[in-house]
Amino acid sequence: MDRTEIYQSIESGASSGDVFAALRKLPVDAVADALLYIPPEYSKAREALPRMATDEVQDSWTGSHGYPLLLQSAAFVRVLENGYRRYANRSLDDARILDYGCGWGRLLRLMYKFTAPENLHGCDPWDRSIALCRESGLAANLIQSAYIPTEPPFPGERFDLIYAFSVFTHLSARSGKAVMDVCRRSIADNGLMVITIRPQSYWEIHDQKQNIVDVKAMQRDHAVNGFAYTPHGREPIDGDITYGDTSMTLDYIRENWKGWNVAGVEFNLQDAYQTIVFLRPV
Ligand SMILES: C[S@@+](CC[C@H](N)C(=O)[O-])C[C@H]1O[C@@H](n2cnc3c(N)ncnc32)[C@H](O)[C@@H]1O
Repeated sequence: MDRTEIYQSIESGASSGDVFAALRKLPVDAVADALLYIPPEYSKAREALPRMATDEVQDSWTGSHGYPLLLQSAAFVRVLENGYRRYANRSLDDARILDYGCGWGRLLRLMYKFTAPENLHGCDPWDRSIALCRESGLAANLIQSAYIPTEPPFPGERFDLIYAFSVFTHLSARSGKAVMDVCRRSIADNGLMVITIRPQSYWEIHDQKQNIVDVKAMQRDHAVNGFAYTPHGREPIDGDITYGDTSMTLDYIRENWKGWNVAGVEFNLQDAYQTIVFLRPV
């Protein structure tokens, strides 16, 4: 399948009024590639799909941009799809999906491969994230959530899949627990939650230019408590700086997040410090 075929099929979907149905027929990487760039001659496809974030936004939210980031994103989506088949025993097609901490909508737009925009939901407590999603023309249900939530972001909804990529790698213990509690109330009985966490070895490669951390103290906290966290220089929320750098163990999850069962673990070599954890509601 070459790019011309991919662009033509999306253009023809856009011309007949359902560009998203056309995307669902394509391979994951073709969807990812088209969402990064479509040449100007495919004007209907370009108009119907969200615009890609600037390199600066991609770098700022996700640490890299362009193809290197896209390959990581597509690799995660494959793990997500495989994990859903393995641990929820079904296909992601037509699933109701929530991207918790969606940032500029990097992964949410790749879910067009599986399901219609009305089934897609994204939340993020940073107003700028939600504004970027909206400004890009991302078709999905979007809402600003709370840093320490007490209510689900979409009350009354039950999702087949909730995922949070590179979110629990940053949250304080209090914020993380609050998020898991509202996600527990938002997941379908047979649903799956997928999160990423950092291993202890993350502290060896932490970029001290970004945020100075006491590496030895973090390694010790991880070994002793199963959880290590250094806040960024932000304003506290209700007495807690909720965002920084975080590592945790699976035992920490088992002991602290009630109502969840660790079903399995994965990772991608392209992004080895994001351990992917599959959680089933119990
Ligand atoms: C490193 S970015 C990852 C964005 C997105 N998940 C991705 O992978 O492209 C972390 C995101 O988590 C969001 N965030 C911060 N605190 C949060 C919280 N308490 N609950 C949910 N998301 C939070 C940030 O606003 C930011 O968009």
